[in-house]
Amino acid sequence: MKTSHSALILCLGIIFCLGSCVQTPEESLSSESMTLGSPEGLNTVRFFIKDGRFGYTVAHKNSTVIDSSFIGFEFRDLPAFGDGLEVLTVTKEKLSETWEMPWGEQRLVQNNYHEIVIELGETGELKRRMDVICRVYDDGVGFRYRFPEQDNLGEILITDEHTEFALTGDHDVWWIPGDWDIYEHLYTHTKFSGIDAISKRDHPNLAQTYIPENAVNTPVTMKTSEGLYLSFHEANLTDYPGMTLKVDAANLTMTSELVGSELLGGKAVKTTPFVTPWRTIQIADRAGDLIESNLIVNLNEPNKLGNVSWFTPMKYIGIWWEMHMEVSSWDMASGKHGATTEHTKDYIDFAAENNIGGVLVEGWNTGWEHWIGFDDREGVFDFVTPYPDYDLNDVVQYAREKGVEIIMHHETSAAPRTYDQQMDTAYSLMESLGIHSVKTGYVGKIIPEGEYHHGQWMVNHYRRALLKGAEHKVAINAHEPIKATGIRRTYPNAISREGLRGQEFNAWSVEKGNPPEHLPTVVFTRMLAGPIDFTPGIFKIKLAPEKPGFQINTTLAHQLGLYVVIYSPIQMAADLIENYEGNDAFQFIREVGVDWERTEVLDGDVGDFVVIARKERETENWFVGGITGTAARTYTLNLEFLDPGSYTARIYKDAPDAHWNDNPTAYVIDEITVRNTDEVVIDMAEGGGFAISLFKQ
Ligand code: NOJ
Ligand code: CA
Repeated sequence: MKTSHSALILCLGIIFCLGSCVQTPEESLSSESMTLGSPEGLNTVRFFIKDGRFGYTVAHKNSTVIDSSFIGFEFRDLPAFGDGLEVLTVTKEKLSETWEMPWGEQRLVQNNYHEIVIELGETGELKRRMDVICRVYDDGVGFRYRFPEQDNLGEILITDEHTEFALTGDHDVWWIPGDWDIYEHLYTHTKFSGIDAISKRDHPNLAQTYIPENAVNTPVTMKTSEGLYLSFHEANLTDYPGMTLKVDAANLTMTSELVGSELLGGKAVKTTPFVTPWRTIQIADRAGDLIESNLIVNLNEPNKLGNVSWFTPMKYIGIWWEMHMEVSSWDMASGKHGATTEHTKDYIDFAAENNIGGVLVEGWNTGWEHWIGFDDREGVFDFVTPYPDYDLNDVVQYAREKGVEIIMHHETSAAPRTYDQQMDTAYSLMESLGIHSVKTGYVGKIIPEGEYHHGQWMVNHYRRALLKGAEHKVAINAHEPIKATGIRRTYPNAISREGLRGQEFNAWSVEKGNPPEHLPTVVFTRMLAGPIDFTPGIFKIKLAPEKPGFQINTTLAHQLGLYVVIYSPIQMAADLIENYEGNDAFQFIREVGVDWERTEVLDGDVGDFVVIARKERETENWFVGGITGTAARTYTLNLEFLDPGSYTARIYKDAPDAHWNDNPTAYVIDEITVRNTDEVVIDMAEGGGFAISLFKQ
C-alpha cells in the first residue's frame, strides 16, 4: 500500500543559524565568515573578493579540488556584472531532514547541508545586487545565483553566464560534447586537455546536433591523479537554458556556456527577482559513491504534486524494437503497420502472463507517413486519432481486464508548438482512458529554427508537459529530452527520460552501435542526473536475418544485469516477445523489482564495471546486477548487505565460454542458498555481466 505524500515527510527539516546569522561587511570579508564546511567536514567552500571580483575555492579533506574560480554575467545593452563587487551581508544556516521518494532508488533520503548566502553589491554607480547561495554537503557542493528585484536590473537578456571551475590537474574525463540539441553521443575518455568536442560534429544517426564550442555536456565525470572522483552538473533547471561547460585546456578551467537561442539573440530572458539553477560538484572517494549521492535531488524543492499513487512503477514491453529492426513500421501506409489491435493484444497477453505491468504502443496515431524527411512537421501528428486498424478503446479495455496498462506514445517530431496546442486534449483523452504514462519524443531540429532542445524555450516546454501531465494524472518519459536535474523530487511524474545513447543505436548502425563499455560509463555519468529509459533486455543479440551484421555488443547476462544497474521506475523488456518465449533467462525479467527500498553500489569504476545491489520495496527480496566493459573479470560478491536469515539465490551469469561477440547468449543459471556471511565468486565474460535474485526463505 502506498502512503500519501503528505505523510511522507518523516522529519521536518530544522533550519537554524550557524553562529551569527547576519554579519556586517567588515566581518564578512574575513576569510572565516566566508568559509563553510559540510556537516561532517568533508568538503569546504571558501568565498573571497579579489580586485573587486567574487570567487570561490572548494576543498575535500583539506586538498583543493577547485582552485580560485570567478563568476560573472553579461547582459544585452547593459554593463556586465562581475567587477567592482563588495560583500554586503553573509548569512549561514543549516538543514537536516529526511524525505521520502514516492518511488526511487531508495525510500528515505537524507538531506543534510550547511548553507551560506552572500549578498553582493556593486560599488560603482549602478549599485546592482546579486546573492550567491551555496549549500555544502558531504557528497558535494551546489551554488546558485539570486538576483533580487532592484531599480537597475529589471527585465534582462542574459547573453552569458561565466561560472568558472578551475581544476587542479589534467584529470581523466568521461565526456560527451556540449551539443545544444542532443545527448545521444558516445562517451569519450581522455585527459581534460584532450577534450575535443568539435571532432564530434560529424555524427551519423542523429537527426539533430549542434556543437558550437569545445564544450562538454553535464553530468561530466572526472578522476584526479589522487583517485578522487568529481562530477559536474546542475540541479533544478527551471526557466533557464541548460548549461554546457566550455573547455580551456591551457588553463585547466571550465566555464559555463549556456545553450542559446538565435531567435532571442542571447541565452535567457529573465525578470528580477529570479534564481538560476544550482551549479553542482559531486565529490567522492569511491566511484560508486557518485551513484549513491543524492545531491542533485536534494537541491530540488519538495514534492508539489502531493499524492501520486495513480502511477505505479512497472516493467513494460512494447511494439517498438520491431520498428527499429524494420520488421514493421510506425505508419500504416507502409503495409507493415506494427500497432494493430490484434498485435497489441498479443503483447497484452504476454505482459499479463509474465508479471509485466505495461505495454507501449508506438505508431498508433495518424501522422507517421509524414514523419521522417518532411521539413514542415508542424501540425502533422495528431495525438488523439488512432489509425483505423488500431481500436484504442478496445485495446485499453482488453488491457484493463488483464491487469495491464497501455503506455501512450507521442512523437512530437520536435514541433513543440503543435504539441502545446494538443497537450490538454491528448492528456484528457489519456485520463479518460485511465492511461497514466506517456513516452514523448522530440526527434529532429526544433521548429522554429533557431531554438534548440536544451535552450530556455524548450526547458519551459518540457516543464509545461510535466505540469499539464500532472493535472491529468499523466507521468512523462521524454525521449530527446532536456537533461534530468532532479526535478523528479518536485514533480515525481517526471518518471524517466532518455537523454543518452539508448539501445536503439545498436539497430541503426554496425560501426556506431554501443560498445561494451557504454553502460559501465553511463552509470557514472548520465545516470547521476536521474532515471534512464535505456530499454535493456535484448536477448537476440545478433540481429540477423533482419539486420545482418548488426548486434548488441554485450552478452545476454549483461543485458539482465542492466535491470538492477540502471535505475528507472519504468523498465522496458525491449526485445520482441517471440525472442523471450522459451528462454529460461527471461525468468529474471519476470521476477526483478522496479522500485527500491535501498541501493548499495558495491563496487565499480568508470567505464570498467559496476556491481549494484538493490532491496525491493515491500518485499524482503534483494537483486544484484553486475556489468563489465571490454575486460573479463572475476568478481567476489560479498553478501554482507543482506538482512539476517537465509535466501534462495538465483544466479544468472555468463557461461565460461561466453563473449560479447563470439558467444553472447551463453549463460548459466545456478540456484543456491546463501546468508549474509557468504561470498559468491562470479566470472564475467568480456562485455558480460550477471544478475541475481535473492528471495528471503
Ligand atoms: C526516438 C525514440 O528514442 C525512440 O525510442 C522512438 O521509437 C522514436 N523516437 C520514435 O518516436
Ligand atoms: Ca532517441
